[in-house]
Amino acid sequence: MEKITSLAKRRGFVFQSSEIYGGQGGAWDYGPLGIELKNRIAGAWWKEMTRLCDDIVGLDAAILMHPRTWEASGHVENFTDPLVDCKKCKSRFREDQIPEESLAARKCPDCGGELTDTRKFNLMFKSHIGAAEDSANVIYLRPETAQGIFVNYKNVIQSNRMKIPFGIAQIGKAFRNEIVTKNFIFRTCEFEQMEMQFFVKPGSDEQWFDEWRRRRWAYYEKMGVKMDSLRWHRHGADELAHYAKDAYDIQYLFPMGWRELEGVHNRTDYDLKRHTEYSGKDMQYIDQDAGSERYIPYIIETSAGLTRTLLMILCDAYDEEKVADKGNDDDWRTVLRFHPSLAPITVAVLPLMKKDGLAELARDIRGELQEDFATDYDQGGAIGRRYRRQDEAGTPFCVTVDYQTKEDGTVTLRFRDSMEQERIPRAELAARLRQEIKAYKRGR
Ligand code: GAP
Repeated sequence: MEKITSLAKRRGFVFQSSEIYGGQGGAWDYGPLGIELKNRIAGAWWKEMTRLCDDIVGLDAAILMHPRTWEASGHVENFTDPLVDCKKCKSRFREDQIPEESLAARKCPDCGGELTDTRKFNLMFKSHIGAAEDSANVIYLRPETAQGIFVNYKNVIQSNRMKIPFGIAQIGKAFRNEIVTKNFIFRTCEFEQMEMQFFVKPGSDEQWFDEWRRRRWAYYEKMGVKMDSLRWHRHGADELAHYAKDAYDIQYLFPMGWRELEGVHNRTDYDLKRHTEYSGKDMQYIDQDAGSERYIPYIIETSAGLTRTLLMILCDAYDEEKVADKGNDDDWRTVLRFHPSLAPITVAVLPLMKKDGLAELARDIRGELQEDFATDYDQGGAIGRRYRRQDEAGTPFCVTVDYQTKEDGTVTLRFRDSMEQERIPRAELAARLRQEIKAYKRGR
């Protein structure tokens, strides 16, 4: 993880928030390559969930919601972590993360000091809206994007003539006052979620739950993730959220071990029933095709962290490869083997020399590719070094422009993973890149 954190900073993927003031815990900033990667991951998920699914539409709900939302959802009452403090060193722990022996003895795992009694700590960030800071003006930063979907489900049905079964997808920020934020961007106070809520007829929920588990697993395969680094974890009775009838996590083997990446949950009719109760509005679905049958739909949820997925993609792509045997640093290259559709830069155009018109020619080629691909242009330093820089950024293709380009209009196309090079006509570049992206298999 240290290597990944350091690469992420060095190459402008992720910076510490407010670094010049000593940093703000639980928050991170995404640099030039990071925002491209994040947008690409979000775009791939959005395409999969909306464009490729006839029965799913999108939504972008506000972060600030009516405070009754969080009473109805159960977050005011239940969204808590058990918290203990060390009276001596003042460290703070989640009770469920303290080793059993320390907990049994009520001793701090760090310094052996006495632990306080356990108290419930609500993870929602609370603030006030408007000028007065009293209880009537309490507002929460949403701890999940899901509730924005539930409260809009009737709007979506009415405006878009949706029929059950159907889904609503949303990507957006969520906030949790996490007690322990470590492991880089894995668990943060400000993060982004990619959530999809699928509304189904009661009784068909288990079948749809299985179907969504199947689809989400297939999605990671399509994204080129190492499948032996993924596994399912079914929630035991003690782990199930207050709204869930059944839940599976997709876990990824991060450097610190197996951890949750995404959850697939059968939320039953809990949310819509609660919103009916708290808002007084009828949340029943009226099935016009079944003699106006009325029911509260069940909800199957797929919920992935966008920023956590970005960490997973970084870990999954990270590789160090021996490429020479000279006995110095140049023997090794660090390479991010991103799927080309996720890579922040798809193609870098590099003139062999700055002189003799090669730079101009390379810029011209970049200009041709720019409209359709994320491109970079680099003319600084030896060509070998420039390839290494692009390897570290995860750029799958480099195009080198040399003297032969001037003569016969061909360029060298270099592949990041195999480091193989091929001479192709400049005119065929765009079509070839599109073909390579589509046919990409890890290892080429
Ligand atoms: N709507 C259901 C829900 O929010 P969750 O398991 O609490 O379920 C879903 O969160 C996903 O959101 C997790 O699998 C994880 O990827 C991401 N996530 C949750 N808390 C996070 C945090 N503090 N930092 C980063 N990602 C987080």
